[in-house]
Amino acid sequence: MAGRIPSAFIDELLNRVDIVEVIDTRVPLKKAGKEYTACCPFHNEKTPSFTVSPTKQFYHCFGCKASGSAITFLMEYDHLEFVEAVEELAKMLGIEVPREQGVAASPAQKQAKSNAYDLLAACDRYYRQQLRQHPKASLAVDYLKGRGLSGEIAARYNLGYAPPGNNLQLAMGQGTTDALVTQGMLIRKDDGQTYDRFRHRIMFPIRDGRGRVIAFGGRVMSADDSPKYLNSPETPLFHKGSELYGLYEVRQAQRHIDRLLVVEGYMDVIALAQQGIDYAVATLGTACTAEHVQKLFRLCNDVVFCFDGDRAGREAAWRAMENTLPVLQGTQTIRFLFLPEGEDPDSLVRQIGKVEFEQRIEQAQSLSQFFFASLRSGISRQDLEAHRTLIDRARPYLQKMSDQAYQALLIQDLAGYTQQDERALYPLLGLAAASRQAKTVYPANKQGNLPPSLVRTAIACLLHHPALANLVADPQSLSQIDQPGIGLLIDLLENMKSNPTLTTAAILERWRNTREGPHLEKLATWQPSLNDPESLQHEFIGAIERIQDQHRSARTQSLLAKSKADGLTGEEKSELQRLLNRSIQTGPLQG
Ligand code: UTP
Ligand code: MN
Repeated sequence: MAGRIPSAFIDELLNRVDIVEVIDTRVPLKKAGKEYTACCPFHNEKTPSFTVSPTKQFYHCFGCKASGSAITFLMEYDHLEFVEAVEELAKMLGIEVPREQGVAASPAQKQAKSNAYDLLAACDRYYRQQLRQHPKASLAVDYLKGRGLSGEIAARYNLGYAPPGNNLQLAMGQGTTDALVTQGMLIRKDDGQTYDRFRHRIMFPIRDGRGRVIAFGGRVMSADDSPKYLNSPETPLFHKGSELYGLYEVRQAQRHIDRLLVVEGYMDVIALAQQGIDYAVATLGTACTAEHVQKLFRLCNDVVFCFDGDRAGREAAWRAMENTLPVLQGTQTIRFLFLPEGEDPDSLVRQIGKVEFEQRIEQAQSLSQFFFASLRSGISRQDLEAHRTLIDRARPYLQKMSDQAYQALLIQDLAGYTQQDERALYPLLGLAAASRQAKTVYPANKQGNLPPSLVRTAIACLLHHPALANLVADPQSLSQIDQPGIGLLIDLLENMKSNPTLTTAAILERWRNTREGPHLEKLATWQPSLNDPESLQHEFIGAIERIQDQHRSARTQSLLAKSKADGLTGEEKSELQRLLNRSIQTGPLQG
């Protein structure tokens, strides 16, 4: 695996790249005052509410609340993974993405990797060519036609044909043997001889997010041959647990992905696409992992799992749900579509067609329905003991959830099933009562009003104008103060002071994937009512001073109380004296 991308490089990248340029080549922007606007590419609208700020290097839509840096934009708009987006920006600037030492790839390893992509691309071309030319290819073509596939769909999925016998080495040329073995295309026997892994099979190339072939699946054409499917083994390029068959093709087919359907087989994906349902992907003979699901949620919030209605299908669905629960967040939903026994998506869609199949998708079970139906299986009674059993069964799953709002929804439903008060369930589930605070630490601001707390105000001002950090001489002097968010404020001040060139976007990148990240992003979208630097500075200084005032008066009150109750130490006495005199010389504000 390659090493991490150093955060200093992300800073530099966001410093050098211009978000206006990045977005403008994809969504033409219009200048409006200091900012640029367009109709939002992430939701349908007629009047532009999408704005891009060149100073913050940050975009924000007032309509759908999408926001972020140039990296976020590429992730959302081009459907890239984080690393891919970084690589894309680096490519625009003509610079290499460095990797942190230790596990960094050497130039030779990098070369090998890019050669491996080229080699697999060449294999892919070879198999497609064989589907057109090989004397036995008519068997493959007839097979595909027999399964209802058009030439157009075969071309969209780059279907190919691996002829019988050993051909690949010859086709790929001298010196490729070792690389073909590493990529799983050849198998080396004990005596050192090699042979083709895929012989006389229909070939399904598996592509990564950027469309590069990283592995293959191959299907026999006769029921007498086995195994029915062969897949590439795990290789340096191919990790089953994180790849999804058909994902690249979905991204090619759709700009806005509203929904993704997860099925089990290659042929299911392709048959669905043939019928016009071009948003299906398949796990590659493994259970759906958390990594898979996170990849899907990058593209859309509505993921529907499609499984056989039989016992094995329900077990697979349950595993997918178990892997998903801990990563579910916000408005992400998973649903479950169970097919009649004996059917798979391929057979069913060919039978009932797109419209009726999509009706079934609409009626798929919700997470809660599936969760409680599964947990309640075998519990027929409606007594206390049955309720206890249900709570016991639900407990480990609910505990694994990270999104409190989501957890609360399921607990609400559990309360219904067990005829208990919701609040009484939390201790029974070993959970802290739903803290209202957790959900409202940084509520969204309304119409440009100031965020409703002093710490938030200070943070919002800083995100608006990072140079304000220089007004605070010693951020650590705020560390005595006990207010929510003060630690974050100190961290921000320190980051900004030690890196005065950081843009708002670069700062947000530093907090990507942290608990505070989404809150910071919201605060960065705050629109101050008076946007000139002077007003902003005034606002910021006011907030910091009032935070200190509040701290001083709280501290004064507590020292006074203590002096009445059990007396003060000498040190405390002089502190109180100082506080009462208001002669704080150690405050953090400069000047
Ligand atoms: P299925 O056996 O359900 O086959 O395998 P299918 O998708 O319906 O295939 P068709 O319709 O007969 O062509 C589902 C998935 O499990 C993996 C493959 O990824 C397949 O798409 N599988 C299955 C294997 O890896 N090896 C096998 O031998 C069988
Ligand atoms: Mn099938």
